[in-house]
Amino acid sequence: MALLDIVTYPKKILAQKTLPITDFKNKRWDRLISDMAETMYNAPGIGLAANQIGEPLRLAIIDITSSEDTANRALHVFFNPKILEKSKQIDFEEGCLSLPGVSAPTRRYEEVVVEFQDRQGNKKKLHTSGLLAVALQHEIDHLEGRLYIDQLSTLKKDLVIKRFKKLQSMKKSS
Ligand code: CO
Repeated sequence: MALLDIVTYPKKILAQKTLPITDFKNKRWDRLISDMAETMYNAPGIGLAANQIGEPLRLAIIDITSSEDTANRALHVFFNPKILEKSKQIDFEEGCLSLPGVSAPTRRYEEVVVEFQDRQGNKKKLHTSGLLAVALQHEIDHLEGRLYIDQLSTLKKDLVIKRFKKLQSMKKSS
């Protein structure tokens, strides 16, 4: 296992649509998934998309349990996820490992039905709500080349970016 570097805003790969995975026999995905999981738990975060670690692939992982509670981890792996159905919208305070230190209320669906493939390439459907549903929408957005700040009004987006850049420059100078 290895810790990977997380790509931060405004790197181009975060704004690019990822490519579907079709080769499920490729052993490379096992290593990639375990490295992504280690990176996500270490951050710590509850979700990570492949393009956030520099791989433009339609793959994301999520674990909404506490990353410190290693005995009760529940890692979800989504190959080629896609939203099929969605319910009414809610506001959810969101952050992102590619924009460390900032967050903003984001418009999300309370409940979603997502279609995806598992590690073996089997088609699966997941009907979920709450934090897992929100995290899925956040990660699927990543795979489409969108960040949560792209959903905000221009004014709010500019404020979040300004705050993020300020935090980054403070980090560099300290
Ligand atoms: Co994110």
